[in-house]
Amino acid sequence: MLQPANLSLEEMGDLAAIIPAADPEVKLSYRAIPEFDRANRRSIIPVCEPTLGGNELKYVQQAIETNWISSAGKFISDFEAQFAAYCGAKYGIACANGTVAMHLAMATLGLEAEDEVIIPTFTMIATANAVTYCGAKPVLVDMEPDYWQMDLNQVEAKITPRTKAIVPVHIYGHPTDMDPLRELAHKHGILVIEDAAEAHGAEYKGRRAGSLGDAAGFSFYGNKIITTGEGGMVTTSNRDIARLAWNLRDHAFSHERHFWHKFVGFNYRMTNLQAAVGLAQVEQLDSFVAARRQHALEYNCRLSAIPGIRTPAEAPWAKNVYWMYGILVDEDEYGMNRDQLRKALAERGIETRTFFIPMHCQPVYWQQFRGERYPVAEDLCRRGFYLPSASSLSLHEIEYVTDVIREVCPAMRG
Ligand SMILES: Cc1ncc(COP(=O)(O)O)c(C=O)c1O
Repeated sequence: MLQPANLSLEEMGDLAAIIPAADPEVKLSYRAIPEFDRANRRSIIPVCEPTLGGNELKYVQQAIETNWISSAGKFISDFEAQFAAYCGAKYGIACANGTVAMHLAMATLGLEAEDEVIIPTFTMIATANAVTYCGAKPVLVDMEPDYWQMDLNQVEAKITPRTKAIVPVHIYGHPTDMDPLRELAHKHGILVIEDAAEAHGAEYKGRRAGSLGDAAGFSFYGNKIITTGEGGMVTTSNRDIARLAWNLRDHAFSHERHFWHKFVGFNYRMTNLQAAVGLAQVEQLDSFVAARRQHALEYNCRLSAIPGIRTPAEAPWAKNVYWMYGILVDEDEYGMNRDQLRKALAERGIETRTFFIPMHCQPVYWQQFRGERYPVAEDLCRRGFYLPSASSLSLHEIEYVTDVIREVCPAMRG
C-alpha cells in the first residue's frame, strides 16, 4: 500500500518558518454594489473565477446537438488550431489537463532513468511531477528576486551530461527571460519546454508564451486565464514533437493497424465538449488579458503608498498577463505578517491564496532535495500571497480590497 511521505515541521528545522498557516475562513461579509457587480457576487470576492460570457453555451449546444461529445469532433481541431495560432506556434495538441500537457511534452523526449530536467523550485508541483512521471530527475534552481522567475545565472552550473531539458515556468503570468535561456540550452544541445500553464497571452519581446521554446504546456483549469473546466494543451512548431504528442495522447495507436502499439501511450484526450468551451474562451482571450493588465495597474496605483507592500514588477521585455496578482508583505514595515493580513482580509470577505511552497520543501520531495536551499524561493513562500485576480473583477472590488489593506495596516494607523 502506498504510504504518504511524512514530514514534520520539527524535521524541517528553520525551513518550517516559511510554511504558511492554514487558509483562514473567508467570512460572508462583502456587500457587493449591484451596478458594479458584474459577476453577481454577493458575499465574498473570490481569488479567481471563470468568465463564461461568450459563445460557450452556443458551442456546447452544437456539440450536443450533433452528437459529438467525446474526443473527436470539430471543436477539438478548431480549438487546437486557434489556440496554437494565438500563441504563434504551428501545432496544438489538446489534452486532459495542464499536468498531462507537461508530461506529454516531456514524454516525447524519450527521457530515461537518471536523465535530468532543470526546473525552478518555486512552482506548482505538477512541473516536478511531470519529470518524475517520466522516470527522470527534477534538478532545482532558485528564482531571481525582481520578477520571481527562474534565476538563469544558476542554470549553467546545474547542467550535466544527463541534462535533457530545461523547463522555465512563467510564474503567475510573467514570462521568463527566454533569449539567454535558449542560448544556453542551444550551447549544450538541450531542449526547452515552457511550463506556460499560467501564461496564456504573456509575451516575451513581442513573442507569445507557447512559442518561446521547443514545446510548451498550458493548463485550462477553472482558475486559469482561459478555461475548459479541466484541460490542457501542448503547443510546438516542431512537427515531429507534435505528431508524437498526438499519438501518445491517444494510447499510441499505430497508423498501420488498429490495436497495434509501439509506445506506452496514454489516454490524455480532451473531449469535444471541453474544446467547445475552449474555442469560445480563446475568442475572448485578448479582452481577458487587457482586463487583467488594467486591474494590475489599479492595484499597483492603490497599493504603492502602503508601507511594506511590494507589488509585482514587469520586466522591460515582458508583457505580464497577471494570472494572479501577487504581493509580498514586509512584516517590519507593514506592521503584521502575511498570514495575519490574509486573516484580516478573509474576515472582510476577501479570498486570497499563499504563494507556492517550493519543491525542496515538499514532503514528497524532501529526501530527494535534502539539504538544498534556495533563499529567494523561500522568501517568496514566506511573504507572498495573491489578491483576487479574476478577469471579471470590478474596479469597486479592487478599491474595496486595497482600502482594507490600507485600513488594517498597523504602520499607517501610527
Ligand atoms: C505552473 C503550473 N504547471 C502545471 C499546472 C498543472 O495544470 P493542471 O492543474 O491543469 O493539471 C499548473 C496548475 O495550476 C501550474 O500552475
